[in-house]
Amino acid sequence: MSIRSTIAGQPLVDVRDARLHYKVGGALASLGGRSTLVKAVDGVSFTIGRGESVGLLGESGCGKTSMGRMLLRLETATSGELLFDGEDIQTLKGAGLKRYRARAQLIFQNPFDAVNPRLSIRAILAEPLENARIPASEREERIISALELVRLPEPRQFLDRYPHQLSGGQLQRIVMARALILEPDFVVADEPVSMLDVSVRAGVLNVFRDVRDRLGLTAIYISHDLALVRYVCERTIVMYLGKIMEDGPTEDIVHDPLHPYAQALVAAVPVPHPDQSHAPLPIGRGAPDSRNPPSGCVFRDRCPRAIELCATAAPELRSVGTRRVACHLV
Ligand SMILES: Nc1ncnc2c1ncn2[C@@H]1O[C@H](COP(=O)(O)OP(=O)(O)O)[C@@H](O)[C@H]1O
Ligand SMILES: [Mg+2]
Repeated sequence: MSIRSTIAGQPLVDVRDARLHYKVGGALASLGGRSTLVKAVDGVSFTIGRGESVGLLGESGCGKTSMGRMLLRLETATSGELLFDGEDIQTLKGAGLKRYRARAQLIFQNPFDAVNPRLSIRAILAEPLENARIPASEREERIISALELVRLPEPRQFLDRYPHQLSGGQLQRIVMARALILEPDFVVADEPVSMLDVSVRAGVLNVFRDVRDRLGLTAIYISHDLALVRYVCERTIVMYLGKIMEDGPTEDIVHDPLHPYAQALVAAVPVPHPDQSHAPLPIGRGAPDSRNPPSGCVFRDRCPRAIELCATAAPELRSVGTRRVACHLV
């Protein structure tokens, strides 16, 4: 454990001006065509305190998964710093990287994609223990306690089953148990209930909340759905086309969104709750094109309040009370 981790008040996660740009159309480029750059994450800065749960909210394609993957070092940032416990994760190698991979875990979007269908539940859960060289004699006990942690009743009955013999909700708990079995400090949950029936969502979210509180986890919860973020996160970061539009306490954003985009998200879910259906966003359906973002403010072509300045200058993310907001009009 590094000495820095004992410094009180230092955020666990500190992202500084992170960018992740993908080059697309490379094959065409080799034939003389032009490749374009998708700025999936484009100059994002935020911190997460120890034990804090932060929602990353925004429509599909705004860069949430890219941000999460960078934080887990599944992608290398194009530029910027990603500090975890005071250390830039991009400089980690060998044993240091291995330790980080045990401390920071991903909970996948679709539980059916996240597991190998040919492995039994026992084998699925044993894998991370083997990788971490936990002695074989301790594994079964660790597996059972991980299954108890995610509140699967009578956990032993699941060990010899296969993924297709489980319901979506049960399998998502297995995926959670696998992410938690090494007792990480930090988890990124990427739309963990979006593939589940609405009727079982709240149950899985309750498990997530409970586990997070019991283990004192620091968490990023990625979702396009404000209702889900509100259910599990005290703070929310609203993203649009690779940039942060608003960041603040979730309840403040729900009750008084400042950014016009946050206002649209809130208007689509008047009283956000996990088993609530959505109205369409009141800003037109045209999903933004990340290959060709507008000049100035990236949101301005869908913004009902845009003024001339919005086309020429990108607004800075500025502190406004308890929040940060990137809008010329706020
Ligand atoms: N591996 C990749 N190569 C090229 N473009 C990508 C890749 N991954 C994501 N993108 C693009 O980056 C943008 C952000 O994607 P993503 O991070 O998956 O957003 P979200 O999770 O918010 O839906 C999208 O325009 C997407 O098409
Ligand atoms: Mg995604």
